[in-house]
Amino acid sequence: MSETAQDLQTAAPIEDNEEAIRAWDGPLYERFVRFREMVTTGLGAHGEAALELFPPRAGERVLDVGCGFGDTTQQIAGFVGADGEVVGVDAASNFIETARAEAAEAKLANVSFAVADVQEADLGGPYDLAFSRFGTMFFANPVAALRNVRGALKPGGRLVMVVWRRRTDNDWLYRGQTIVEGIVSRPEEYDEPTCGPGPFSMADADTTSEVLLSAGFQDIDLRRCDLPIAIGRDVEEAIDMVMAIGPAGEILRLAGDRAADLHGEVRDALRAGLADFNAPDGFIRAPASTWIVSATAPAG
Ligand SMILES: C[S@@+](CC[C@H](N)C(=O)[O-])C[C@H]1O[C@@H](n2cnc3c(N)ncnc32)[C@H](O)[C@@H]1O
Repeated sequence: MSETAQDLQTAAPIEDNEEAIRAWDGPLYERFVRFREMVTTGLGAHGEAALELFPPRAGERVLDVGCGFGDTTQQIAGFVGADGEVVGVDAASNFIETARAEAAEAKLANVSFAVADVQEADLGGPYDLAFSRFGTMFFANPVAALRNVRGALKPGGRLVMVVWRRRTDNDWLYRGQTIVEGIVSRPEEYDEPTCGPGPFSMADADTTSEVLLSAGFQDIDLRRCDLPIAIGRDVEEAIDMVMAIGPAGEILRLAGDRAADLHGEVRDALRAGLADFNAPDGFIRAPASTWIVSATAPAG
């Protein structure tokens, strides 16, 4: 093998999701459980906007991609009714276990769940609609994953996904990240698994359109959705959340105990940095901006 070919091979990106799945099934699952109410209420507003724009129809078969606790899977079950069906898939078995238990408790007969890495697994189908609320930004190979989703759709089937827009329009995450980065440096080596490409991997409209085109989708449309979200019932809860999830949480998690003595300084800086998100009711509310992306599989 030539030296260049060897170099290219060494430099080739890691394209499987093994590490990200370990992160989602372990530390991130725990953090999402801890902040579930805040996270799902916040994410909820943007998901509801997407479902309002593109409502699933009665009798349809729907795939919920990266379904997490299955909140949207349950919501979609209401849209499709008893003659329809919703399948929630997630790569992290802990999320699926919780989603199954909660759907059983809610006695939902038209909902099922499967542990599946969307990039590789057989997703069943064919589906009329694939929906995702913030579940498509973490694939090592987004083209392969979305091609797999497209392959599970009926000809003419629809894709609707909610993804974060750029960092600067989601300032609670970005400010949190820059504040933490100013105090704690991201370690070069760490033992903790990372969550994959990260929440802003689909923020660029051109890149996301290209990914969808390469995955075989057409009629691609991105609509901007700006809705403020609550990130804490008070500033201390907002600080806890910023330090636990998102890019700031990721840096602190990777730094681990090495940064423990800096947490006080980080909290003080975040308290000052998040102050202007203080709402009159005491909640911390921040602007949040997403794309509601829609596309269709070719009619065949
Ligand atoms: C930010 S959470 C969103 C969860 C849920 N859709 C919601 O709105 O509450 C991202 C989800 O994507 C899942 N995920 C990440 N990579 C995945 C993959 N390769 N295949 C399937 N699910 C994946 C994670 O386990 C996690 O549950």
